[in-house]
Amino acid sequence: MKIFIDTGNLEEIKKAANLGVLDGVTTNPSLIAREKGADFHTRLREICRIVKGPVSAEVVSTDMAGMLQEAEPLVKIAENITIKLPTIPEGVKACRQLAARGVKVNMTLCFQPLQALIVAKAGATYVSPFLGRLDDIGQDGMELIRQIRTIYNNYGFKTQILAASIRSPLHLVAAAMIGADVATVPFEVIEKMLKHPLTDSGLKKFLEDWAKIPAEKK
Ligand code: E4P
Repeated sequence: MKIFIDTGNLEEIKKAANLGVLDGVTTNPSLIAREKGADFHTRLREICRIVKGPVSAEVVSTDMAGMLQEAEPLVKIAENITIKLPTIPEGVKACRQLAARGVKVNMTLCFQPLQALIVAKAGATYVSPFLGRLDDIGQDGMELIRQIRTIYNNYGFKTQILAASIRSPLHLVAAAMIGADVATVPFEVIEKMLKHPLTDSGLKKFLEDWAKIPAEKK
């Protein structure tokens, strides 16, 4: 499973990249709006200098022509830019056009399996089902991932399932067990991925016991 970080924050990206296991980055307009400093394009340039894997940059147009127009300068920023489009009819049309030119596309805001089926047919590189937001309204986000996995397996679609709107390590475990190809994870959850109290107490005990051994016996 590939792990992307879901943020526009450079410090978080640097810290996650330093672990050596970060495969990519997703941003969205809300995440970018939280950041002070650099404009959108400069921020993307900075991110692409740190991470060589896919970096999703989202358009804000809601018509195909506008989406394609916005995508032009974005794809020139770096080779690893992936264009993120909303899963609406205009987005599907834009996806088809960009995919035909070899541009990688991440179809975002996917909330039901038929949206995932359509974007796969349109040549999307990634589909982003939003788990947390479905859970928030009392629907089972993980069931959506399960349905998409089955549909893609049935027909051999190559579109990668990018589990998004991840809120906890449990989301990540479930998505990995179902077979999501990628998960995009907020920094707080990345930090929690390596945490276990028994690891900490176990290490403390090992170090204490090691310290008891006389120097000449080490
Ligand atoms: C995915 O690409 C989105 O940026 C993200 O996962 C949305 O998560 P949220 O529902 O926590 O805002």
